[in-house]
Amino acid sequence: MLRSLAREFKFIADDLFTKRGRLYSTVDASSRRLEGKVALITGGASGLGKATAHEFVQHGAQVVIADIDSTFGPKVVDDLGPAAHFVRCDVVEESQVAEAVHTVMSRHGKLDIMYNNAGITGPLIPPSIADLNLEDFDRVMRINIRGMVAGIKHAARVMIPTGSGSILCTSSISGLMGGLGPHPYTISKFTIHGIVKSVASDLCRNGIRINCISPAPIPTPMSVAQISQIYPAASEEQIVELINGLGELKGAKCEEIDVARAALYLASDEAKYVTGHNLVVDGGFTCFKNLGFPSPDQFV
Ligand SMILES: NC(=O)c1ccc[n+]([C@@H]2O[C@H](COP(=O)([O-])OP(=O)(O)OC[C@H]3O[C@@H](n4cnc5c(N)ncnc54)[C@H](O)[C@@H]3O)[C@@H](O)[C@H]2O)c1
Repeated sequence: MLRSLAREFKFIADDLFTKRGRLYSTVDASSRRLEGKVALITGGASGLGKATAHEFVQHGAQVVIADIDSTFGPKVVDDLGPAAHFVRCDVVEESQVAEAVHTVMSRHGKLDIMYNNAGITGPLIPPSIADLNLEDFDRVMRINIRGMVAGIKHAARVMIPTGSGSILCTSSISGLMGGLGPHPYTISKFTIHGIVKSVASDLCRNGIRINCISPAPIPTPMSVAQISQIYPAASEEQIVELINGLGELKGAKCEEIDVARAALYLASDEAKYVTGHNLVVDGGFTCFKNLGFPSPDQFV
């Protein structure tokens, strides 16, 4: 319920910047960085995937959104216009991932960019490993890891014969430091860097690049719904403000567009020699930890 309300709120807000079926392109034709490319984005009906789909279309790509959400997915492609298409897909089901890739191949004859972005946080509670429900653990791993591996596998099958392609995965700063998320989520996000390095060693022989992106918290429907569980009395605006205040880089906040632009770079030919990389988009959050010295006036 919370998640759906948060998403509806975001959808109305985003409508301020688009008109149904007519995306305002702020990018002139000569500087489009994905002209002629075809992308498949899992989890593209919301949040980071949706923002990336928007950015990719602006830069000249044809985009297929593969998402379990068949309410918002079609609305998103409606806003993106004729360059976008929706296919319902649960990444847990390998046959549905294969079918999504098949749809791309039938429509466009090729797949240049596969963005494995769909993910869930799983329950916040219980916080202790001693109380971990392994069914919850399995569910997070099935979506965040198994679904991702299925996406990589089926993209690789159609990219290998062409000798090119760019595969992206969404990790998180929860995959760089412990304690930033629930155990299943953190463990799943740590695993993604391993997948990327393992697969890079294989796919580089075929000219295919694979990289991941690790964002800091961004107030998408997923994170807003999650933090709302901790602060049930807080309004949506208060939760958004709280999340935006978690960063370290003064004067800036982590936004969906920051991830979309990181994905744009990694997907484009500008990153032609970048593979096996984890692009951290966190305003320096995971670079340092301050020593908790008391303030000097405590010793006066
Ligand atoms: N928002 C953040 O703070 C944040 C930070 C770091 C990383 N991430 C990661 O970014 C990715 C996107 O998250 P978001 O914040 O945009 O969340 P979101 O909930 O706004 O979007 C996630 C999308 O994935 C879809 N999805 C969920 N399960 C699926 C399944 N089984 N098959 C297909 N689609 C499915 C959902 O329907 C939704 O459209 C996730 O992998 C998340 O872990 C998010």
